[in-house]
Amino acid sequence: MGKAGGGRNEIDPRFLSLCCVFNMTFPSDDTVYHIYSSILEGHFQMFSADIRSLIPNITKSLLALYKVIIQSLPPTPSKFHYIFNLRDLSRVCGGLCLTTPDRFTSPEQFIRVWRNECLRVFFDRLINDEDRSMVQKLLNELLETNFPEQAEYAKTDPILFGDYRTALEEGGSRVYEDIQDYEAAKSLFQEVSQLCYMLDACLPHDCMSSTVLECYFLQALYWSLGATLLEDGREKLDAHVKEICGLLSVSDTPEKPARAGEIPTSEKTLYEFYFDGEKQVWIAWNQMVPKYQYDPGKKFSEILVPTVDTVRSTWLLGLVRDIHRPAVLVGDTGTSKTATILNFLRQLDQNSNFLLPMNFSSRTASIDVQRNLEANVEKRTKDTYGPPVGKCLLLFIDDMNMPQVRSNHL
Ligand SMILES: Nc1ncnc2c1ncn2[C@@H]1O[C@H](COP(=O)(O)OP(=O)(O)OP(=O)(O)O)[C@@H](O)[C@H]1O
Ligand SMILES: [Mg+2]
Repeated sequence: MGKAGGGRNEIDPRFLSLCCVFNMTFPSDDTVYHIYSSILEGHFQMFSADIRSLIPNITKSLLALYKVIIQSLPPTPSKFHYIFNLRDLSRVCGGLCLTTPDRFTSPEQFIRVWRNECLRVFFDRLINDEDRSMVQKLLNELLETNFPEQAEYAKTDPILFGDYRTALEEGGSRVYEDIQDYEAAKSLFQEVSQLCYMLDACLPHDCMSSTVLECYFLQALYWSLGATLLEDGREKLDAHVKEICGLLSVSDTPEKPARAGEIPTSEKTLYEFYFDGEKQVWIAWNQMVPKYQYDPGKKFSEILVPTVDTVRSTWLLGLVRDIHRPAVLVGDTGTSKTATILNFLRQLDQNSNFLLPMNFSSRTASIDVQRNLEANVEKRTKDTYGPPVGKCLLLFIDDMNMPQVRSNHL
């Protein structure tokens, strides 16, 4: 039982008077040292002797860091979460215990992962530059004083540790390791940045309740991390999200749609629904498909019968265009990628958009692309080219993976 305050209430003294009450004081420095050095010595038994020899110093440095932090960064009304205790020391040691002898073989790597854990547990919780530079400086001083040989390697940024480097590989095991740089984790980050773009595109800018925000987030999640999945992958993602998201699954009908804070279940997955932010309800895409209108004046090649897929893909293309990001449609041959994009482009206002379609073939060379682009843009200043003034250039490349990749990138 902690002190009253911060959501904790006083316990009735009448009740307490019936109990024997003992105060648990914070363990002495020696005890804390004993706890964490024992944990680390246990875990690092299988590691090399020079790594094991660093454990006493690592534990002492951790305690020194912790002590300065609790003295210099007390909780205040604007920093009420600056509550550092034994749990944080456990978190740092917990991170260190994720290491395996095959990936962490040298003392430098050990000190570097220690710095990473300290940054993640303490530094990442700080809310202003002053506090952050204080902790950064303190950590650097500890590294230089206690680990002069390893300090330089440990201090190199960016510092990224995780078990996700092989997450996209089928059956790849999750191993905690030094990711080294952003390049190595790029493929994973690409999906995360798509999530940010989709949120940018979906979210309106006015205030909204947390339940509405969560619905927008789910929508952005499905069309970023889940956007390239095949059917069975979509079902798995859908089942997992529904299990963890905490929103209530409800049965819905067109007359009584699921609202914000709920998940509709009349269709198999949430991919089949659009979240209407204005009405704050989930609408099944199949209710948004307009009836096909026969137009005798239209060329056969321009006919696109509206379907759930065309309506949804057109919505996605519109979202991405609104935030001025390029989009790539991938899929098996004949899945109406070209037909959908051409139909989307035809619907755009031709006065404010300048459309430039390009078809790639196995004979397309990079110089052809450059010439084609240059022929369709105007020179504005020395290095700036653009479409006719007042227009937005929309470049549609069909079959982008057709040309052979040049081996000499000059
Ligand atoms: N909703 C639709 N209404 C009418 N025709 C359609 C519709 N969807 C697809 N089609 C027709 O299906 C055919 C295949 O579509 P499309 O050429 O767009 O496929 P694709 O995904 O671009 O294939 P590829 O990868 O081979 O280029 C086209 O003839 C297209 O007109
Ligand atoms: Mg095509």
